[in-house]
Amino acid sequence: MTGGALSDWLQQSLDRASDQPLYRQLRDLLLQAVMQGRLPAGGKMPSSRLLARELGIARNTVTEVYETLVAEGCLHGRGGSGTFVADLSADRIQAPAVSAQVEAEAAPALSTRGKLLRAGAGFAPNQWGAFMPGVPDVSEFPTRAWSRLLSRHWRKPAPERMTYAPPGGLPELRAAIAGHLRDARSLNCAPEQVIITTGSHQSVDLAARMLLDPGECVWLEDPCYWGLRSGLQSLDLDLRAVAVDGDGLNCASAEALPAPRMIIVTPSHQYPLGAVMSLARRQTLLERARRWGAFIVEDDYDSEFRYGTRPIACLQGLDRGGRVIYVGSFSKTLFPGLRIGYLVAPPALAAALADGSAELYREGQQLTQAVLADFIREGFLSAHIRRMRGLYGLRRQILREAIEREFGGALTASGDNAGLHLILRLPEGADDRRISAQALEAGIATRPLSRYYADAEKAPAGLLLGYACVKEAMIGPAFSRLAEILRRSI
Ligand SMILES: Cc1ncc(COP(=O)(O)O)c(C=O)c1O
Repeated sequence: MTGGALSDWLQQSLDRASDQPLYRQLRDLLLQAVMQGRLPAGGKMPSSRLLARELGIARNTVTEVYETLVAEGCLHGRGGSGTFVADLSADRIQAPAVSAQVEAEAAPALSTRGKLLRAGAGFAPNQWGAFMPGVPDVSEFPTRAWSRLLSRHWRKPAPERMTYAPPGGLPELRAAIAGHLRDARSLNCAPEQVIITTGSHQSVDLAARMLLDPGECVWLEDPCYWGLRSGLQSLDLDLRAVAVDGDGLNCASAEALPAPRMIIVTPSHQYPLGAVMSLARRQTLLERARRWGAFIVEDDYDSEFRYGTRPIACLQGLDRGGRVIYVGSFSKTLFPGLRIGYLVAPPALAAALADGSAELYREGQQLTQAVLADFIREGFLSAHIRRMRGLYGLRRQILREAIEREFGGALTASGDNAGLHLILRLPEGADDRRISAQALEAGIATRPLSRYYADAEKAPAGLLLGYACVKEAMIGPAFSRLAEILRRSI
């Protein structure tokens, strides 16, 4: 787009009657133009004086927008010679390549977005047995207590419980979750801040749809959970991978990236590597988010199961600036098929996100929500978590012993101070995807570590092994079968 075409397009797109300040509109439009390639990398921007004159707005407004976009890494200044469009291609998370097979199967019905989603799909059809990561032992769920509560609510349900749910979900469940989170996870939250969803996937989708426009920048941990990455990729956002180390995500290592509007982190138990984010990193993250006007999504998916020490307090409890959106789920603590999760919004956003959820997803399931509220209030949730923590701790120990028996110190396990899986590190150069596929043929489910990295070529090799849904007696024999495959392949 030439300078003249740019100012014509901006002229048509700026809405002078809108409540949104011109500064914000201009910043968003220029960002969109860069993200969509309308303004090619390396191209020179019109001077602030010229653009201001052509748009009939104050020069200060244009200067301020240019400065913001420079700070965000979208433009850069070259001494006194002007302002240029940055090359954003290098560190962007690339969408997966669409294979000829997906292309052939999908064409012509699917959108580009739909094809990309299928090409990068990470879901596994089998969700049970050795060593499926991230799956709790659903056969231990207290079904008698649940069915007693279920019949209490279903005996003569009030008609309003059988209609659509109110925005944010059933008030009794919102209150029960707020109480549980205050006690168990040190959250600062009132019931009105809790918004019931169908799980973390939907919570992140809701937050992204309500808070981000297409093209805006989101930082994801590298490695991270593929499920959330796929969902965000299909919202046309600018996803950037930020490396994690033993202290979690490091803002300092990402200084060259555009400033984000959202950062998604797993501070209590980094997924999938297992680090706990240090206090210093938590404080830096909160301070940067405040400075950038960004939101932090704290995905606290499995930290109730911490072995050896008490669960780590969450990031949300440290937030004084209303920047953290806390995301939780009953997928690990109860069972994934329940499909109930929640987000805890900062007070200023809670009503908007609750309305957004009602409008987008038209929630229901109030009777199930009422059963769950009683289940929490009557102490069944805490008791179940306590009991399962003991059981999973034992299974983790049995798996560690099996690894030691089969490989001595030659292969090591890590990342298992909390949660439902560990990482079996493989020697450099091992093809973890091929090994995982061979194991699956032998009836053993694993996940290749490289699958979780933005750039699989540069990823370390390893296997995620879930121990939670494997009965104690099955762990040794199943690992021996996996060990045979590993010995043949590495
Ligand atoms: C990092 C992470 N977040 C969240 C989830 C759960 O998502 P949901 O609550 O939608 O089941 C998982 C499931 O494996 C996960 O690994």
